[in-house]
Amino acid sequence: MKGIKTLGQFIIEKQADFPYAKGELSRLLRDIGIAAKIVNREVNKAGLVDILGEAGTINIQGEGQQMLDIFANTQFIAALTSGGECCIVATEEEEEFVPIDSPVSKNAKYIVCIDPLDGSSNIDVNVAVGTVFSILRRKSVEGMATLQDVLQKGTEQVAAGYVIYGSSTMMVYTTGKGVNGFTLDPSIGEFCLSHPDMKVPQDGKIYSINEGNYVHFPEGVKKYLKYCQVEDTATNRPYTSRYIGSMVADIHRNLIKGGIYMYPTTASSPKGKLRLLYECNPMAFIIEQAGGIASDGLNRIMDIEPEELHQRGAIFIGSEKMVRIAEQFMADYS
Ligand code: AHG
Ligand code: MN
Ligand code: MN
Ligand code: MN
Repeated sequence: MKGIKTLGQFIIEKQADFPYAKGELSRLLRDIGIAAKIVNREVNKAGLVDILGEAGTINIQGEGQQMLDIFANTQFIAALTSGGECCIVATEEEEEFVPIDSPVSKNAKYIVCIDPLDGSSNIDVNVAVGTVFSILRRKSVEGMATLQDVLQKGTEQVAAGYVIYGSSTMMVYTTGKGVNGFTLDPSIGEFCLSHPDMKVPQDGKIYSINEGNYVHFPEGVKKYLKYCQVEDTATNRPYTSRYIGSMVADIHRNLIKGGIYMYPTTASSPKGKLRLLYECNPMAFIIEQAGGIASDGLNRIMDIEPEELHQRGAIFIGSEKMVRIAEQFMADYS
C-alpha cells in the first residue's frame, strides 16, 4: 500500500506546529473526526432509516429543525464531552452555549463553535450537506468559561474546518499553517490525506448566490451580478453560476475550482443569513489560509468583533481577484 496517511497520523505529525503543543488540540480534532464518521454513517443511509424529515421543533434561528440537525448536534456534543478537551460548545441548534460541566472538561482550554449540519434543507433530496467548526482557546484562566470566552474575533481562531458529506466524504481543516483535505475511505473507516496544502485559485469564473433574492440585494451586489453576466473574453466572462444551497458544498467547490460565494444582506435577512461564529469565521479562516479572502462586502470577516452568539453577517468569500472586484462594487454602489 503506497503512502496512505490517516487524519490521526497527520495530526500527531503536525502537533509540534501548534502554539501550545501538549496534545490537547490534536485530541480535540480527533474527537471531531470521530463524530463526523458517525454523522456520515447516518447521512449515508438517511433514506433507509427513519431519520429524514422535520423534527417538528424550531431552533433559536427560527428555522424548523430536521431530525438530522438534532442527531448531528447530539453526536458532536457527545464526542466533545467524552473527549474532555472542550469546556464549551456553542452550536447553531441551541440558544445558549453548552458548558461541559464534567470535572475534566470544565478546566479544558478549548471552545468549539459548530454548525453540526449545514444545508439541512438538502437532506431529504440527497444533496451534499456538511459540518462546520471553529476552535477557540478560552481567555479566562479559572472557573467555568463564560460568554466572553466564546465572543472572540475570527483572527483568534486556533483551528477551523468543515466536513462535506458528498459523493465522497471529506474533512478539510486548518490550524493556521495551510489547509489540508482528507477523504473518508469507507473500507477502512479512516479519513486519509488526499488534498495536501489546498490553494484556492487567485481568479475563477464561478459565482454562487441565491439569485432568487435579486430584488432584495444591495445595489452593489446587483451591479456585480450584471458584471458577472456581461460578455468579455479578456476576463473570461460571462461567468458560470453554481448554487447548491449548502454553503459547505458551494465553498468547497469554489476552493478547488476558483470562484466567489456570496450571501449578502436581503430584505428578509437585513443582517445577512449566515452566522459569524460557526459559519463565516471558520470558512474565512480556511479560505484565507488557502490564499483567498473573506469579506462582509466592505471589511474582513475575521476582524469583526462579535457581540452575540448567533450573530449574522453578510459574506463574500473565495478567489482573491473576484472578491476584491465584488468589494469594489459594494464600495461604489451600496
Ligand atoms: P443551515 O442548514 O446550517 O441552517 O445553513 C443554511 C445556510 C447555508 O447552508 C446555505 O448556503 C444557505 O443557508 C442557503 O440559504 P438559502 O436557501 O436562503 O439560499
Ligand atoms: Mn439551520
Ligand atoms: Mn449552516
Ligand atoms: Mn446547520
